[in-house]
Amino acid sequence: MICLGIEGTAHTAGIGIVDDDGHILANVIKMISGESGGIHPREAANHHVQEIPIQLEKALEEAKLTYKDIDLVSFSQGPGLGPCLRTAATAARSLASAIDVPIMGVNHCVAHLEIGRKVTGCSDPTLLYASGGNTQVIAYAGGRYRVFGETLDIGIGNMLDKFGRETGLQFPSGPKIEQLAKEGKRLIDLPYSVKGMDVAFSGILTAALQLRKKDASMEDLCFSLQETCFSMLVEVTERAMAHVEKEEVLLGGGVVQNKRLQEMTRIMAEERGAKMFVPPGRLCIDNGAMIAWTGILMHKSGIRMTIDDTSIRQRFRTDEVDVTWRS
Ligand code: ATP
Ligand code: FE2
Repeated sequence: MICLGIEGTAHTAGIGIVDDDGHILANVIKMISGESGGIHPREAANHHVQEIPIQLEKALEEAKLTYKDIDLVSFSQGPGLGPCLRTAATAARSLASAIDVPIMGVNHCVAHLEIGRKVTGCSDPTLLYASGGNTQVIAYAGGRYRVFGETLDIGIGNMLDKFGRETGLQFPSGPKIEQLAKEGKRLIDLPYSVKGMDVAFSGILTAALQLRKKDASMEDLCFSLQETCFSMLVEVTERAMAHVEKEEVLLGGGVVQNKRLQEMTRIMAEERGAKMFVPPGRLCIDNGAMIAWTGILMHKSGIRMTIDDTSIRQRFRTDEVDVTWRS
């Protein structure tokens, strides 16, 4: 069985083609570019309208397949930005009906976890999912992926991008902040904000921007931002691992490409006799391959959807998904 997955929750229009052994036959990714940083849902949706047909052709070419070879179409049903989700869903419905194959709506956060499990070979991990719009610690318990901790305000990537926008870094700012942080020498005190199992980033953003106005160096600020925010993430991840007694930690989301975050997570894991797993970069960021693979898992476990089941779900929570493909 071959599944074509369409990702379009936010900035990225992605098309992935995956077979039922989990071989990734194509994974094309097109992110909206914009110097200004802030994401305009309507603009991103227009981007996806333009790009999805182009990327579809590219993906088929990459996989050396035609539409006749596709057995299932899946798409990111949520969570995400309404106009973007509607565009991806419309594309998926049109395609599935044109080529007369079943359709499957996929939870985007669950897809990050499933592709990570598949490609890294870990079996029952705690996922630290840190992206632009999302920051969650997720683990499997009692037939569902439960959220053990999450951001109470903005996603960590959005925080880094907002800091970057206000201080003149180009978008996305995460990679630039990582570079600057390497030159940082002084750890500046920023409000460390862990509440129970949850984290918050807007206070740190405000404090960092105020310090910048008082002439703190960009290098020191980027270093301190990373050290503070990543410590928060690692702390709640460790607490979740201890709670659910799991010995694997999986990373997912664009921010986990950051080498310092990987290093801090690896040290935490090793200290507790656990192991860290990181998927390759193109499978960490938003991508269609993860949507295709999760579509296959769902289909194989017996789930079927009609067009009526494919309405988008902007606030689709990770723990609403009945994980029928795991025992
Ligand atoms: P989602 O819909 O899952 O929230 P997204 O489109 O907002 O996804 P991703 O594609 O997963 O996000 O990742 C983009 C984010 O990752 C941006 O905020 C970017 O600044 C951040 N990022 C990318 N590389 C790095 C890095 N090396 N260090 C820190 N952050 C990074
Ligand atoms: Fe994502």
